[in-house]
Amino acid sequence: MDIGIGLFGLGTVGSGVVKILQENADQITKRTGSRLSVKHAVVHNLNKERTGFIQNFPITDNATDILNNPDIQIVVEVMGTLDQAYDIIKRALNAKKHVVTANKDLIASRGQELVTIAETNGVDLFFEAAVAGGIPILRTLSTSFTADEISRVAGIINGTSNFILTQMTTNNLAYANALKLAQDMGFAESDPTNDVEGFDAAYKLIILSNFAFGVQPVLGDLAITGIANVTDADIADANAFGYAIKLLGVAQRVGDTKEAISIEVSPQLVPFSHPLATVHNENNAVLVNGESVGEVMLYGPGAGEMPTANSVLSDLTNVATDLALNTPGHPFNSFNQDLDLAKPSQRIARRFIVVEVDDTPGAMYSVTGMFAAAKISFTDLKQTPAANGTARMVALTHPASDAQLNVIKTTIRNADGINLAAEYKLFS
Ligand SMILES: NC(=O)c1ccc[n+]([C@@H]2O[C@H](COP(=O)([O-])OP(=O)(O)OC[C@H]3O[C@@H](n4cnc5c(N)ncnc54)[C@H](OP(=O)(O)O)[C@@H]3O)[C@@H](O)[C@H]2O)c1
Repeated sequence: MDIGIGLFGLGTVGSGVVKILQENADQITKRTGSRLSVKHAVVHNLNKERTGFIQNFPITDNATDILNNPDIQIVVEVMGTLDQAYDIIKRALNAKKHVVTANKDLIASRGQELVTIAETNGVDLFFEAAVAGGIPILRTLSTSFTADEISRVAGIINGTSNFILTQMTTNNLAYANALKLAQDMGFAESDPTNDVEGFDAAYKLIILSNFAFGVQPVLGDLAITGIANVTDADIADANAFGYAIKLLGVAQRVGDTKEAISIEVSPQLVPFSHPLATVHNENNAVLVNGESVGEVMLYGPGAGEMPTANSVLSDLTNVATDLALNTPGHPFNSFNQDLDLAKPSQRIARRFIVVEVDDTPGAMYSVTGMFAAAKISFTDLKQTPAANGTARMVALTHPASDAQLNVIKTTIRNADGINLAAEYKLFS
């Protein structure tokens, strides 16, 4: 069977898709029984010079050249944007074309609407590349964990933040210098907000939570903290206690009967002995805990031309198989359930706390008294002189809830000569 593809976007990912389709055409045909080829591509700027593989088909800036073309069965959206991509995908689905997209922002915010439109039209909508680039995590969750009960999905799912934290740790760079290096090397955009403030990871975690737990969270349901306030002193102190600081996305069942779900993006302390601590620079990893399987980790490139294109190709070949078997129209993820969002009292973890106090007699005693009043006890404690006559107290605690931490934050805010400089969860 000949299957025509219409490509929206010929940038990093789009070019990779074209390369794999052309270079591996025979293998794809052997595996799927179908011949997949790009019939038409739509771009933003027709005057841009394009070379190599991407000259073998017409290029236009008119969406209808693809959407009205009866020879095109699959639309690949790899152009980014929110409203325009939504409009194009919706029109493609209503024209009974299957859609493959890498657009995490769109799928995280309006994915459920598009899934419904795809189902109504009996067509496929796949988006493996939207989470963790080259790591095949979504299809793994939807096909290999069907019968297992997942208790947690956690991962390093933003390569930019991981690159910055790795550089701060291994090369002792200050945050601003590590960010500049990430920008110079093409790992961070000129406006890095989405990456360093945790929003990119949050979009991916929304999609992961949907696949792992069947829930449909919105951005406001997540607790989101980025890495912009991580200091080199925090990293050095964490390292001294045997931990790396990593920006993690963590979705997990919590509560006495695991009745609720906590969905959080934040920098956390990961023991050096844990596999997630060995994920360096721009790489990603996703850890899945299942009641039956135990712990599984998928590691690999979270972005980049060819890794991301490989995930798009995985979706394309799945559509091709559905077409050959006449079975399209099943949702990528059909798991749906309602779970309550975790309360602060249900978000429990050990903590790494940094407090700065006036370096006066009895100051440390009053700090420990505040924590004792909130029923938070320490397992390790270290005090070092800080600047301007203050002392820096770094502590690891026994498990404590966000509710207890909120009590401490209020107490400290109302006290003189003491400042809660940092607070991180310990991942285990
Ligand atoms: N890059 C990665 O490693 C990666 C990884 C995972 C997911 N993604 C996702 O994949 C998508 C594409 O990323 P990318 O890095 O390939 O982007 P990119 O390099 O900036 O390429 C975007 C492409 O889309 C075209 N385009 C942009 N706006 C358009 C519009 N309104 N109408 C028609 N064409 C338009 C551009 O046209 P011109 O060529 O004319 O400018 C360009 O060809 C995004 O959703 C991104 O989040 C990317």
